[in-house]
Amino acid sequence: MKRENVLVSEDALARQREFEAKIKEMFTSREAHPVACVDTFGCQQNVADGQKLMGMLADSGFTFTEDPKEADLVILNTCAVREHAEQRVFGNLGILTHTKKENPEQVICLCGCMAQEERVSQRVKESYRHVDLVFGPHALWKFPELLWQVYETRKRVFAVDNEDGTIAEGIPVVREKGVKAWVSIMYGCNNFCSYCIVPYVRGRERSRDPQCVLQEVRELVEAGYKDITLLGQNVNSYGNDLGLDYHFPDLLEDIDKIPGEYLIRFMSSHPKDATNRLFDVMAKCPHVAKQLHLPFQSGNDRVLKEMNRRYTREKYLEEIRYAKSVMPGLVLTSDVIIGFPGETEAEAMDTVSLVEEVGFDALFTFIYSPRPGTRAAAMPDPATRAEKQKWFDKLLEVQNANSAKLHAAYVGKTVRVLVDGESDDENFPLASRTEGNRLVRLKGDKSLIGSFIDVKITDSNTWALYGEPV
Ligand code: SAM
Ligand code: SF4
Ligand code: F3S
Repeated sequence: MKRENVLVSEDALARQREFEAKIKEMFTSREAHPVACVDTFGCQQNVADGQKLMGMLADSGFTFTEDPKEADLVILNTCAVREHAEQRVFGNLGILTHTKKENPEQVICLCGCMAQEERVSQRVKESYRHVDLVFGPHALWKFPELLWQVYETRKRVFAVDNEDGTIAEGIPVVREKGVKAWVSIMYGCNNFCSYCIVPYVRGRERSRDPQCVLQEVRELVEAGYKDITLLGQNVNSYGNDLGLDYHFPDLLEDIDKIPGEYLIRFMSSHPKDATNRLFDVMAKCPHVAKQLHLPFQSGNDRVLKEMNRRYTREKYLEEIRYAKSVMPGLVLTSDVIIGFPGETEAEAMDTVSLVEEVGFDALFTFIYSPRPGTRAAAMPDPATRAEKQKWFDKLLEVQNANSAKLHAAYVGKTVRVLVDGESDDENFPLASRTEGNRLVRLKGDKSLIGSFIDVKITDSNTWALYGEPV
C-alpha cells in the first residue's frame, strides 16, 4: 500500500480534535463533569491503545474512575488472543446491564481486537443491546467522532469495517504516572502464524516514521520516563515497508544516542527475522537493556512448520547462542504454546527439552486455544485437555525450577535496579526492576522511587528477588 494511504491526514486528525471540543462543550453547557472507566485487556499494544483512548477522553473533558458503577462512559478495550479472554469480556458485558439499569444515561463501548471480529460484533448487535458503541483497532483514531455520534443521535454505532490499517500520529495520550512508558513503533502483523488471530484483527504490518518514534522517545526521556518499551508484533521487521533501507537495529542505534538516564526494551521479536546485527547493536548500545523476549512457541520442527513460524529449533538455538556470546549476562524470556492441534506427547516434550537447554529467566506459557477463522482452528486436535494439562504442568515444573535456580544465583550480588513503585510486601515495601526486568522487592524509603540505585540481593524465590540498597 502507498505510504500516503497509510498515514491518516493532518486534516482528518484535526477534525477529531474538533469533535473532542464539541463533546467537552456539550458537558460544560450542562454543567456536567463526565467520568469514564477504561478497562483494558490483553497485550501492551492494547495498553498503549487504552492510553490513547484516555488521552482523547481527557481532551473531551472526562476524568477517570476504576469503578464502572460511577462512570458515565464505560469502555471495554478487549483482547481476542485466547477464548478465555473473550469469555471474560462477555461476562463483564453481562454485568454492565445492571450498571446501565441504575444509570440509563450510561454509555457502554466495546473496542479493541475482539470488536474487530465479525462474529463478536454480530453477537453484540443481536444479544447485548445495552452496548452503544463498537469499534475495532482500525477506527481507534476516529473515537471522538464515533462518541459524538452516539451522544448526538442516541443510536447504536458500529465501526468495525475490516481494512489493512492506517497510522495516525499525534493522538493525545494519558500515560501512567511513574517511570515506565510504551511506544508503538509499528502496527499490525503479516506473519499469519496458523494459531493466531492478531493479523485478522490488527491488519497489515506498517511502521511509524523513524523521526516520529525518535521524537516521542526524546519527549518521554525529557519528561522523566526511565524504562521505555518499544512495541510491535514483530519489531524485527520494522522499516520493511518504509522503503528507506532503515531497519530495527538502525532505530535502536538512533534512540540510543538520545542523552539521558533511561533503558530501552522492545517486544516482540520474531526468531525468523532476528539477526546477528540486532544482537551486536543491543550489545554495544548502553541504553538498550540486555534483555530479550524471543518467543519460540514450540521446540519441535514439525509443529513449528504447522504453526507457520518459518524457523527451526536449531536456528532458534543458534540465535540464542550468538546473542549470549555477545551479551554474557543476557536475560531471556519467551512465549510457548502447548497442545497445538496434532501435537503429540513426544513433540510437547521437545518443547520442554528446549526450555531445559536454553534456561529462560521466565516464560509466558499458554495452552492452545482455537480461534475461529484461523488455519489451526480447522486442524484435527485429538489430544485431550487432560493430556495437554499434563504436558503443560511438566513444562511449568521445569521452568519454575529454572527460574528459582537463576534467581538464587543473584543472592549475595550487588545489582543496579530502577525503583519503579511500591510492593505489596510490608517487609520489602519497594518494587524495582533489574536491567533484565527481573522484579526485586526492596527495603527502603519511598523517596527512592524513580531512581536507579545499587542493591544487594539478600534472598530469592521463583518469582522475585529480595534486597536492600547498598
Ligand atoms: N507477535 C508476538 C510473537 O509472535 O511473538 C506474539 C503476540 S501474541 C499476542 C502473544 C502470545 O500469545 C504468542 O506469542 C503466543 O504464545 C500466544 N498465542 C497466540 N495465539 C494463541 C492461541 N490461539 N492459543 C494460545 N496461545 C496463543
Ligand atoms: Fe500472531 Fe505470529 Fe503475528 Fe505474533 S507473529 S502476532 S504470533 S501471527
Ligand atoms: Fe494484543 Fe490480544 Fe489484540 S494480545 S494484539 S490485545 S488479540
